[in-house]
Amino acid sequence: MQLKRFVDKVALVTGGAQGIGYAVSQRLLSEGARVVIADKQGEVAESVAAQHGKKAIALEVDVREANCGDQIVERALRRFGGVDLAVFCAGITGMKTWLELSVEEWNHMFEINLRGTFLCLQAIGKQMIAQGRGGAMVTFAATSGHGPRPDAAHYGASKAAIIHLTRSVALDLASHQVRVNAISPGIVKTSMWEGVTRDRSTLQGITPQQYEERAISNVPLGRATVPEEVAGLAAFLLSDEAAYITGQVILQDGGYTLKVS
Ligand SMILES: NC(=O)c1ccc[n+]([C@@H]2O[C@H](COP(=O)([O-])OP(=O)(O)OC[C@H]3O[C@@H](n4cnc5c(N)ncnc54)[C@H](O)[C@@H]3O)[C@@H](O)[C@H]2O)c1
Repeated sequence: MQLKRFVDKVALVTGGAQGIGYAVSQRLLSEGARVVIADKQGEVAESVAAQHGKKAIALEVDVREANCGDQIVERALRRFGGVDLAVFCAGITGMKTWLELSVEEWNHMFEINLRGTFLCLQAIGKQMIAQGRGGAMVTFAATSGHGPRPDAAHYGASKAAIIHLTRSVALDLASHQVRVNAISPGIVKTSMWEGVTRDRSTLQGITPQQYEERAISNVPLGRATVPEEVAGLAAFLLSDEAAYITGQVILQDGGYTLKVS
């Protein structure tokens, strides 16, 4: 049966042009939401939105811009008249030993992953408070935010901070009936994962295929996941079925952290 949990809802998805954000946008649209697809890849976002007629709109935005959240809210208000749901998928990764990280690389990681998430949460949180009809948001952390991984100190630190930010914001917004939860995915087959595989296999002197097989062999459920599966969890967390869940960080990692934590 096709679920229709988001009819009459307006959703904002950052990083919605590809990967997990794309799958989240598609899932929310299929369940009846109207969606603002915000991404720095403006043309890709436009072509995704164009497939959904008046129900989706694209916005080219870089979450490094200080007013990125305001831009997204303004677009949603002008086109759809409000905002009920938001998912923050815009993010980057990078594999490098912390001993060789430059301050520019450190700042770049935090500017997009943490500051970008903060700016969007703040602008949308303010709008949801002003509307007075509640809302729900989902941020993206990662297993690296729960425990150290080789060559990922800056990525992991930015994701650990997103976990703390999510819980703090959830506490502050609860009295406004705005819920905020985080998803920490494990291996999700997207271009980000391809980049991780490429970088880590180079660092370890093995082929990308060998790296991927090794990584998957560490997952108790014995497989990677796909963006659509992550989108299903995001949709659940945004829906009324999760109405009593806030400030939680859901590890969707096939059991990976059971072995390493
Ligand atoms: N793929 C995985 O295995 C995995 C694992 C754990 C966590 N995550 C997290 O999930 C989220 C989505 O990852 P993905 O695999 O879909 O990545 P992806 O690289 O496929 O997609 C990321 C999207 O974010 C957009 N983006 C990047 N920088 C931006 C910026 N400055 N402003 C606006 N948009 C920007 C990109 O254009 C792209 O559309 C990320 O936060 C990532 O850290 C992914």
